[in-house]
Amino acid sequence: MTARPADPAPNPHATEAEVQAALTDNKLAQVLYHDWEAETYDDKWSISYDERCIEYARGRFDAVAGPQPLPYGRALELGCGTGFFLLNLMQGGIAERGSVTDLSPGMVKVALRNAEHLGLDVDGRVADAETIPYEDDTFDLVVGHAVLHHIPDVELALKECLRVLKPGGRFVFAGEPTTIGNFYARKLGQITWKATTEITKLPFLRGWRRPQEELDESSRAAALEAVVDLHTFDPAELEAIARSAGAVEVHAATEEFAAALWGWPVRTFEAAVPAEKLSVGYRMAQYRAWLGLSWVDENVLKHVVPRQFFYNAMITGVKPGANRK
Ligand SMILES: C[S@@+](CC[C@H](N)C(=O)[O-])C[C@H]1O[C@@H](n2cnc3c(N)ncnc32)[C@H](O)[C@@H]1O
Repeated sequence: MTARPADPAPNPHATEAEVQAALTDNKLAQVLYHDWEAETYDDKWSISYDERCIEYARGRFDAVAGPQPLPYGRALELGCGTGFFLLNLMQGGIAERGSVTDLSPGMVKVALRNAEHLGLDVDGRVADAETIPYEDDTFDLVVGHAVLHHIPDVELALKECLRVLKPGGRFVFAGEPTTIGNFYARKLGQITWKATTEITKLPFLRGWRRPQEELDESSRAAALEAVVDLHTFDPAELEAIARSAGAVEVHAATEEFAAALWGWPVRTFEAAVPAEKLSVGYRMAQYRAWLGLSWVDENVLKHVVPRQFFYNAMITGVKPGANRK
């Protein structure tokens, strides 16, 4: 759930006319791309609804919001995808009732299906974060993960969050790329991709080479990703946007520096070679390395490296008015 490798190809079910229209209509591009990803998204990002991801989601929430009176009553998720953030937060005791929303109908469908399997009290709607289809003062909490960087007008979306929050209600967004983090992550990813795909042309390494059509598909997808990824954030800038939208008690936090410098080349390498070449032992070793480096980030580097150098940004803020509880 951290550094993400290049995505595979655009929606193969989209018509040529839709693909052409998506080049000039960013929201259509978001729908086509994410609709196609919906059914395979959980596998692709190793998303689960067990202790591992509950702890991860809850950890991100606590890292930026700090200790809060829990649970929140009614929570809304924007850009829910398959429900990773809100469903795991609900399982982690953050909220009692949930509403999942996304611009992509395919994603809302999968998120509702996941919620039903988990027996959670969740409803859902297709919705644009810039025009949230709920009444004023409806929610106690609004959350999102890896969604703000897809929204054209982030300040408008945060204004909408504040409108649908009850006075004293809080928003929490996590998993956003910082500007500096995105720069080194992309560069490391590009270098690793090039090196791996060149080296595996050597005759004695052929077995490590993915079929050319799959490699081409990944390259095309990386190009499309550049269309749907609209922003990167400086943490101070993100705080300024949230204050300008009308939020109080605004606070941005960042995490993953060593973990991102290590994780991006590793995950790009993994995407460039056949999956069967990577043993369970190798994957476990990489996961342990990532956990270890995250510990170093949190306990050592956080105290000496400026926050804008870390890869992941999170932001929280509160709607002015009554205090919760
Ligand atoms: C990178 S995915 C993240 C999904 C999920 N939150 C997660 O972390 O796994 C971004 C999601 O935001 C959605 N999205 C993009 N633009 C949006 C908008 N304007 N309003 C609501 N959702 C949007 C996409 O359809 C996609 O499901």
